Amino acid sequence: MPAVSASAPGKVILFGEHAVVYGQPAIAAPVTGVFVKVIVQPNPLKPSGSIEIESPAVNFHATRAELPEQHPLNTLFQQIEQTLQISRLPAMKIRINSTLPAGAGMGSSAAVSVAMIRAITQFLGLPLDNEQVNRIAFEVEKAFHGTPSGIDNTVITYQMPIYYVRNHQPQLIHVKEPLTLVIANAGEAPSTAEMVAGVRQRWQQHPQQYEGLFHQIGCLVESARQILEQGSWQQLPPLMEKNHQLLREIGVSSPALDKLVKAALQCGAYGAKLTGGGGGGNIVALVHPEEADSIAQQLLKEGALHTWLTTLRPINEER
Ligand code: MEV
Repeated sequence: MPAVSASAPGKVILFGEHAVVYGQPAIAAPVTGVFVKVIVQPNPLKPSGSIEIESPAVNFHATRAELPEQHPLNTLFQQIEQTLQISRLPAMKIRINSTLPAGAGMGSSAAVSVAMIRAITQFLGLPLDNEQVNRIAFEVEKAFHGTPSGIDNTVITYQMPIYYVRNHQPQLIHVKEPLTLVIANAGEAPSTAEMVAGVRQRWQQHPQQYEGLFHQIGCLVESARQILEQGSWQQLPPLMEKNHQLLREIGVSSPALDKLVKAALQCGAYGAKLTGGGGGGNIVALVHPEEADSIAQQLLKEGALHTWLTTLRPINEER
């Protein structure tokens, strides 16, 4: 069997994070400039079932046998075996190369899962369709993060902007106009699982208030979807501002995130909000394409640790 590789992009949540865990809709898009690439090679000298995994970017090297039973990669291997109805994967070497920062809220765990599921199943000559890849990646995300909504694995599997409601088929969004986004990292964040657990605790203490906030976020997502598909980008900034405000109210912003959102607006971004789990991590800003580089530079001066640029394009403009 020849070596096979598969890649998966990063992701950004445009609207609706956290509320999506409670059944509200959310909108996410792939970030194509950063990606995980997984290469699978045969390992003919080893017995069947022996899998060596290495990920130099995070200094990870292990064999399947060494992984604890509950390890997310064990879930991934078992799910592939069950789906393909094979008793044991053959001997192989798996290398994970990534330009996607781990723990920066860009979906690195989901990207690793999606690229790995695709590479392994293609290596076996039994490629899976998007729905099957997404289903397995969701199981692995649960092993990583506890109670995820499934939006990260879904947008990364489909590699298109999506409108997503938990436990429903994603709906692809065809943006009407190109949108240029700057993503900026405000520093280390607690894990998404911790942020989601914190919101859950506050929701349990103040159910009515939190349900109200989630509902407001859901309404805003519906408007954003319509605008993305039919309207004009000028209508998006007030929705970004409102979404950021609601995320502050549910307690997932941080002084560093608020500072970067403010800085982005002062340097000329049309709109900005925190994106993903919050508590640190990233903001996303909507910018004029010709100002993207200079806004990214200014955000670095204002304390951002890293920035990324990405553009959502209408289908007929995609390259
Ligand atoms: C994480 O990218 C988005 C959250 O809404 C969690 C989830 O949907 O699983 C914070």
